[in-house]
Amino acid sequence: MSDSILEKSQQLRIEMEKTLKKNRFDHTLGVAYTAANMAFVFDEDVEKALVAGMLHDCAKCLPHEKQISICNKYHVELTDIELRNQKLIHAKAGMCLAQYKYGITDYYILDAIRYHTTGRPNMTKLDKIIFTADYIEPNRAPLPEIESIRKEALSDIDKAVWHILHNTLTYLESEDFEEDPMTKVTYDFYNDIILGRNTSDL
Ligand SMILES: [Fe+2]
Ligand SMILES: [Fe+2]
Repeated sequence: MSDSILEKSQQLRIEMEKTLKKNRFDHTLGVAYTAANMAFVFDEDVEKALVAGMLHDCAKCLPHEKQISICNKYHVELTDIELRNQKLIHAKAGMCLAQYKYGITDYYILDAIRYHTTGRPNMTKLDKIIFTADYIEPNRAPLPEIESIRKEALSDIDKAVWHILHNTLTYLESEDFEEDPMTKVTYDFYNDIILGRNTSDL
């Protein structure tokens, strides 16, 4: 942890307050401070968690066309499903802004921003913290089983990730919404971990 990163997270808080709508800014602070707490619990770099949390939705309030043009400018490829479900694009656009507008060079932080919507198999600890904090932060509207997931988030992070992916896929299927294949691939990865763990307990 370095003082410069701590200063960075404080500067970013000011930037995000200017850039984001009020609800999104409140959510962003909730994610940043939840991620910082999870970093304390899981021995992750707290300042990196703060920075990643502060920036994870930095592109969210931009029009979708602008988010697409940011990805094009920095040669970040968009999938067909992202182009059909444009609310997914803010993760990749956010990664680009984090790097080229806000000066983040740490790929650990950039990856956590990029994968915060779908996750990915074998996530880094910071990926898992941001993915989970995004779901459990205190300003979130009530979600199914949120109380258990909040407890898991501070005791068993793989279980929390699995639980969030399970609930997200259940919700998308029940509403007949198209799911990003990466969400399912990530779920299968963590399902194997949780299942393998249960089997070895027998
Ligand atoms: Fe997001
Ligand atoms: Fe978010």
